[in-house]
Amino acid sequence: MQWKDEYSVGVAEIDEQHKGVMELFTVIDTAIDNRESWSDVFFKLEQLREHARFHFALEESLMRMHGYPKQAEHVDLHKHFLDKLDQLQMTTLSRQVTMNTINYLSNWYAEHMKMQDRDFVRYIIDNGKVNITHLPAA
Ligand SMILES: [Fe+2]
Ligand SMILES: [Fe+2]
Repeated sequence: MQWKDEYSVGVAEIDEQHKGVMELFTVIDTAIDNRESWSDVFFKLEQLREHARFHFALEESLMRMHGYPKQAEHVDLHKHFLDKLDQLQMTTLSRQVTMNTINYLSNWYAEHMKMQDRDFVRYIIDNGKVNITHLPAA
């Protein structure tokens, strides 16, 4: 999964975490391509889950601190991602994970960065409580 400027939300720390999660998608894609064993794929999905959970917790605490009005629905979206990832991990136990299923998650993640993450970061920037490090791509 290739990073694009359009994914930038304008806060370096969040962009860096997004890049980290995207790199893990690439690692998982490669593992599936190379038909690695289910245990290797499972372990890589576990790393993705740990990164995503850590990242979501950071976003959710920022939303809470800044009183972001759409926090509840954003948290639900994060939960949806983690639920899908849980299902995917269970799948590795019984059959091969296909590119289709991992593509669902990586596409979801790309859309989430461009839409909901950008929206909440825009909210906290507009409320003047964050020093922006760079402007997000138009
Ligand atoms: Fe995010
Ligand atoms: Fe998010």
